[in-house]
Amino acid sequence: MEIGIDQISFFTPNLYLDLTELAEKRGVDPNKYLVGIGQEKQSIVPPTQDSVSMAANAASILLEQKSTEFLNSIDEILFASESGIDNSKSGAVYLQKLLNLKKNMRAIEIKQACYGGTFALMTAFDYVKLHPNKRILVVASDIARYGLKSAGEVTQGAGAVAMLVSTQPRLASYNWDSVFQSEDLMDFWRPLDQSEALVFGKMSQEIYEKFFYEIWQTYSQKNLKKVSDFAAFVFHLPFTKMGKKALDQINDQIDESKKDQLEKNRLAGQIYNRKVGNLYTGSLYLSLISLLKNNILKNNDRIAMFSYGSGTEGELYSLSLAADYRQAILGDPAQMIASRRKVSVDEYEGLFRAFPEDSEDHELTNSYDSSHFQLKRIKDHQRIYGDNF
Ligand code: CAA
Repeated sequence: MEIGIDQISFFTPNLYLDLTELAEKRGVDPNKYLVGIGQEKQSIVPPTQDSVSMAANAASILLEQKSTEFLNSIDEILFASESGIDNSKSGAVYLQKLLNLKKNMRAIEIKQACYGGTFALMTAFDYVKLHPNKRILVVASDIARYGLKSAGEVTQGAGAVAMLVSTQPRLASYNWDSVFQSEDLMDFWRPLDQSEALVFGKMSQEIYEKFFYEIWQTYSQKNLKKVSDFAAFVFHLPFTKMGKKALDQINDQIDESKKDQLEKNRLAGQIYNRKVGNLYTGSLYLSLISLLKNNILKNNDRIAMFSYGSGTEGELYSLSLAADYRQAILGDPAQMIASRRKVSVDEYEGLFRAFPEDSEDHELTNSYDSSHFQLKRIKDHQRIYGDNF
């Protein structure tokens, strides 16, 4: 019985910052951002979006036009985020209500830095194996915030990826081959009283590379797989150069005849991430969408997926593509990215500072935002959402 990702969709807010303009304002050579870091643009979050509204917007693309019978087969919403809106209550229950889903379901939030989306998927695969007539909705949604003028500023971003997990998946099936490892490390974290992450940038890159290298060695031995068994390696991309740094470590294991294909697919897998920025939990899955939309792959092509979450957790697993995988990417991610409005650096800084805190009441207008679901107000420490229609 094949189990995997049945359908997938993506949402990002409709504003962006041009990183060449940011470099000029920060007195940095633009090629540091464009080439050295590998980021071109960054999605900017209006006050009317947060991790829950973005998740609802991504999931609504998946669920529109589904029959009542289909919707009722969804037994769980797993909401993965490290920028959740509450220290206690799950963001998933807001999604259940906004998406009009049935009452008899589990609605759970998962946090393990950027790795949470992958854990949600693995949990969903296990559940569907035991309950083959059921489906699970997994949504990975985040706002990556490091701070104005911080080293991490160029690696910010925002967005959500929603996935339906089921038997007979129309996108890709999971090969039950995961290798994972964890270690208590302090490379990146966000204290409870802060809306911006703290990071030891160089250390975080080194740990990422080390985790990929170690996990790949174990994975290849355990699963008897070589690099040439894969059509592509897809990475968590905090910035696109990170994927290249990781893959370069196993360059000596890549057959000459395979190099061209892997490089083409690596580049296809970073096209959207270069323009959106870091999505934390959703980044690996945006890269998967980018690969599948921007290059032609074949039925049964095997894709290695490397998930990384600071703190630290890593996992490598593989997916095998379904025949009509392109039809299983719902919405139009390229159009969504292309139709964003550019904001100036001054406007971005204003929006960054206007990030609404829950300690005060706010009425939030939607003059920057035409998205379906929006955060409308914060009142008495509660977030109130609505749709825009
Ligand atoms: N032209 C071309 N390249 C240039 C250049 C120029 N004019 N100037 C500099 N560069 C290159 C540098 O050589 C360097 O490349 P290499 O790493 O390949 O040598 C690259 O540009 C970046 O330069 P610096 O290392 O000097 O950059 P920095 O110190 O200002 O910060 C960063 C880079 C550490 C990634 C920082 O943006 C950061 O802290 N980001 C957040 C943390 C992060 O994303 N970590 C990734 C791993 S952790 C993770 O994956 C989880 C997660 O999502 C957060």
